[in-house]
Amino acid sequence: MKTRFVCQNCGAYAPKWLGKCHECGAYNTMVEELIEKKIVTNKTRRSRPVSIRDIPFTSRDRRAVGISELDRVLGGGFVKGSLVLLGGDPGIGKSTLMLQISALIAENGGRILYVSGEESPYQIRIRAERLESAATNIDLLSETELDAILESASELKPELMVVDSIQTIYKPTLSSAPGSVAQVRECGGDLMRFAKERDITTVLIGHVTKFGAIAGPKTLEHLVDTVLYFEGDKTQQYRILRAIKNRFGSTNEIGVFEMTEAGLREVANPSSLFISDSTASGSTVTSIIEGSRPLLVEVQALTSPASFNYPQRVATGIDYKRLAMLLAVLERRVGIGVCTVDCFVNAVGGIKVVEPSCDLGLILAIASSIKNKAVEKGIVVIGEVGLGGEVRPVYGLQSRLKEAEKLGFKTAIIPRKGLRDRDKSKIEIVAVDEVKDAVKLTLG
Ligand code: TYD
Ligand code: MG
Repeated sequence: MKTRFVCQNCGAYAPKWLGKCHECGAYNTMVEELIEKKIVTNKTRRSRPVSIRDIPFTSRDRRAVGISELDRVLGGGFVKGSLVLLGGDPGIGKSTLMLQISALIAENGGRILYVSGEESPYQIRIRAERLESAATNIDLLSETELDAILESASELKPELMVVDSIQTIYKPTLSSAPGSVAQVRECGGDLMRFAKERDITTVLIGHVTKFGAIAGPKTLEHLVDTVLYFEGDKTQQYRILRAIKNRFGSTNEIGVFEMTEAGLREVANPSSLFISDSTASGSTVTSIIEGSRPLLVEVQALTSPASFNYPQRVATGIDYKRLAMLLAVLERRVGIGVCTVDCFVNAVGGIKVVEPSCDLGLILAIASSIKNKAVEKGIVVIGEVGLGGEVRPVYGLQSRLKEAEKLGFKTAIIPRKGLRDRDKSKIEIVAVDEVKDAVKLTLG
């Protein structure tokens, strides 16, 4: 089969790879593709519009894996014949997760084909031993040529096929190297057709590059049914599985896992990961909502006299601009001077806090550090802060309070505006209108 190169910017064709497109002049945009035979339309078998009422409704077969953190993210399990892309940094635990999933499905009588282009069957065997899983029923295939893989799969007829990773798979008809956009797109397309035709659930593992995008696999996102990202700090134990796209469920769910010596373990109570036992000044506990789950997160601040004219602001896990805004509010609306102090803020456990609901907690943490007076233990602080120094309501207040109650918090400082009649709960509610009030209440 012949191939040609097409510019991703303007769509111009070239018979050979060019560094610079001869049409639009863009650099590095040429991607190889196969020249397919012309598609002949069949006039007698054209599709006709059908009323939505006339389409038979069957809820599709799903296979719940039995790991509730995963099943929730998938929307109840793998849909039969769906194509899933699992992306993440190298070494984050994608292969480990898929092997554990495979072992669980195999245990329940499902047939698994695990295709690895990266590791030898022996290496996978070693890992399976380490996971102490009953992974005895998994068929391993060490192969990188697509047609050979599809051939094995059609012989074996597995329920789940794992391709680890899509960047190692290639089609010999394309001259581009494995992992290039052209190869990934072609192989991904073929795997998609195969999965749909044979009703084989297929998971493609894809590595994220240093630049944050799944370079080749990114081009697959529009094609596949579900895109999952496995993320987390490699130096930390926790990992978050997130659905970026899901044709069979919500994308608002996350699953939290912990990497242990014996593989990944689901974390049923993730809030405990992001709260430390520190009693020092400059720390408060606040709440975020990941998907539909409330999580409690500790934010910490440390201020010290600035040694240069230009004070430092360093934020880890917290938006830098948000920090600058909160410092301005503290200066102007509360009357606590911040011009001459360096300020470092941090979210505990390596999680990223982007929700405005953490504003009040963060501002109290900074004030607490400046006054060198600790906020009492057992208080959770929830609220968005406006430029006028007012505390604004947040969504999902009830579920946030319930989570705090579950973890044994005694008092909640919340925006008065969000206050509604609520059922009796053990947590004491302190409603505030302005940041000033909250500072006075907690720090005197
Ligand atoms: P791996 O699944 O190979 O990552 P990926 O496929 O995403 O590249 O897992 C990588 C890391 O996980 C590896 O550095 C070691 C660690 N690990 C554990 O801590 N415990 C375990 O039981 C296993 C199997 C791996
Ligand atoms: Mg791997």
